[in-house]
Amino acid sequence: MVDLTKRFKVGKEESITAVKKLNLEAKSGEVLGILGPNGAGKTTTLRMISTILSPSSGTAVVNGNDVRKNPLQVRQSIGYLATEMGLYERLTPVETLTFFARINGLDQGLIDSRIEEVFNILDMGDFGDRRTDKLSTGMKQKLSLARSLIHDPPILIFDEPTQGLDLMTSKTVTDYIKEFKQGGKTIILSTHIMSVAEKLCDKIAILFEGEIKAYGNLDALLERSEGSNLESLFFEVVNGES
Ligand SMILES: Nc1ncnc2c1ncn2[C@@H]1O[C@H](COP(=O)(O)OP(=O)(O)OP(=O)(O)O)[C@@H](O)[C@H]1O
Ligand SMILES: [Mg+2]
Repeated sequence: MVDLTKRFKVGKEESITAVKKLNLEAKSGEVLGILGPNGAGKTTTLRMISTILSPSSGTAVVNGNDVRKNPLQVRQSIGYLATEMGLYERLTPVETLTFFARINGLDQGLIDSRIEEVFNILDMGDFGDRRTDKLSTGMKQKLSLARSLIHDPPILIFDEPTQGLDLMTSKTVTDYIKEFKQGGKTIILSTHIMSVAEKLCDKIAILFEGEIKAYGNLDALLERSEGSNLESLFFEVVNGES
């Protein structure tokens, strides 16, 4: 990302800058974690990288494609997990995944085998044919994850991937994120959960009021912090600013 910036109008004359000139990078086989308090600009950043929002200035390059110039190519190379799930209540997981796989141009043979694969990965076989509005929060979260994975994209953008999940399911998801990383995917995620960030991320960016306050390899950042853990670093960075 280069100077990625987003301003929102909030009223007739006023605007706020939710994200200010971010410069971040994640490579294949890396997990970049974006941390920050509520309202810091994490979701806005991930939405710009995913082409859901266009930047006010600056840009991001995803898999060699600029989000401003080639949004379609960017979309094909990413899987995006949003915090608001936006699932179709009347469809079952199988129908949902079939729909999203078709949108992504997969043919029926491949769709069936991908659904089987993703069901195995996320242990979803038991509820593949249940209507989505009858699923639990964790099951819906798994379905949202499955949806972002169905076309096997090289880049995964996860906004709070473990939100609403119990400890076991959360571990399943973080284990799979590790596996995706080992498989050479690039993962950019936001989280509020320090233990998740510590376990998963190679690189961390701490965002506060739209600006990066700390950025670098997790190990290097931890060395810099007095408490040698992410939580104390987080408070040092965020309290140091307020
Ligand atoms: N569509 C919008 N219009 C106006 N302001 C917005 C819009 N979306 C986000 N904002 C503002 O931008 C800022 C950053 O919001 P964002 O959702 O990116 O934060 P976040 O870091 O994801 O927070 P959270 O941890 O609560 O999810 C906030 O001040 C928010 O009110
Ligand atoms: Mg958010």
